[in-house]
Amino acid sequence: MTAISLKDVRKSFGKYQALKGVSFNVQEGSVTGFVGPNGAGKTTTIKVMAGLVRPDSGEVRLLGRDPFEDVEVMNEVSFVFTRLMYPPTDTVLEYLEDQASVFGGDVKKAIEEFDLKGHLKKKLSELSSGLAQRVQLAAALLKSPKLIIADEPAANLDPPARNELYERIKELNRKGVTFLISSHVLSELERVIDRVVFISDGRVTFEGPLGEALERGEEIYLLVDNVEKALSVLSGRDVRKDGAYLVVRGDMAEAISSLEKAGVRVLIARRSSLDEAFKKYTNLGG
Ligand SMILES: Nc1ncnc2c1ncn2[C@@H]1O[C@H](COP(=O)(O)OP(=O)(O)OP(=O)(O)O)[C@@H](O)[C@H]1O
Ligand SMILES: [Mg+2]
Repeated sequence: MTAISLKDVRKSFGKYQALKGVSFNVQEGSVTGFVGPNGAGKTTTIKVMAGLVRPDSGEVRLLGRDPFEDVEVMNEVSFVFTRLMYPPTDTVLEYLEDQASVFGGDVKKAIEEFDLKGHLKKKLSELSSGLAQRVQLAAALLKSPKLIIADEPAANLDPPARNELYERIKELNRKGVTFLISSHVLSELERVIDRVVFISDGRVTFEGPLGEALERGEEIYLLVDNVEKALSVLSGRDVRKDGAYLVVRGDMAEAISSLEKAGVRVLIARRSSLDEAFKKYTNLGG
C-alpha cells in the first residue's frame, strides 16, 4: 500500500506560489527522505498533510484516506515539527498527559522508554533542542502511529542526539512504522533513508530509491598523484577539476584501470555523494 500520496498539490500565499503542483508517493514500510533547499516547500507540504494548511487544489491521501474529510486517520499518523507547537509554559508531563488524553497511549511507558523521568517538571520553553525532540517523539509515539511525518527532526541536534534519533527511527521502521523525514542536509539522512523525494522551488524533481538518485547523478571523484598526466589519459571524456579532485563521468573501474595502465596512481576514488545528486535535482527545479 501507499502510505502517502500527493497529486498536483498547489498552494499560494498571496501572489507567491509556494507549491506548484507537488506529486509524490511514499511506500508503506519505507523511510523516505523529503529533501530540498531552504524555501523549497517542505514545511508547507508537511503542513498540508497535517491539515494545518489547506491546499488550493490537488489531492492528499494518508494511509489511503483524505485527512481533510476523514480526520480519524490522524489517530494513526504522527507529526513532528522543528518547534514544539504547544503552550511553552506547559510542563513536559502536562504535555504528554494532554496528548494521551486526546490520542490515548501509556504516558508512564513513554516516560520510561524516552528516559524523561528527570525532566517532567520542566516547562516546554526550557528544554534543550535534543530534549524537546525526544519529548516530541515520545508524544508522537503515544498513539502507536503507522506513519510518522517529521519536519527536519535532526535540526539543532548534536551528533550523539542525532545518532540516537536515527537509531530510534530505524528500530521503529523495523517494527513497521513508515517515515517521511524532511531535511536540507542530505548527507545526514543518507544513513537512515531508503528512498528519497527531492523538492525544489515548489516542485518534485526526483522520487525513487536512494541508489537510483545516486546513479543518475553519477560522477566519479578521483584523487591522483599526477593530475596533468591523468587529464591527458582521460581526454576525450567528460572530465573536470574540482579542488584537488578530478571529476569524471562514466565507468569508474574502466577509468581507474586506464589511468593505472598509464602509470597514474589513483589515491582515492569515490562516487558522487548524495549531496551532489541533490545539487543536480535542485537545479532541475529552478
Ligand atoms: N504563511 C506563509 N505566508 C507567506 N509565504 C509563506 C508562508 N509559508 C511559507 N511561505 C513561503 O513559501 C515558500 C516555501 O516555504 P517552506 O517553509 O515550505 O520551505 P521549506 O522547504 O520548509 O524551507 P526551509 O528549509 O527553510 O525550512 C517560502 O518561500 C516561504 O517564504
Ligand atoms: Mg521548513
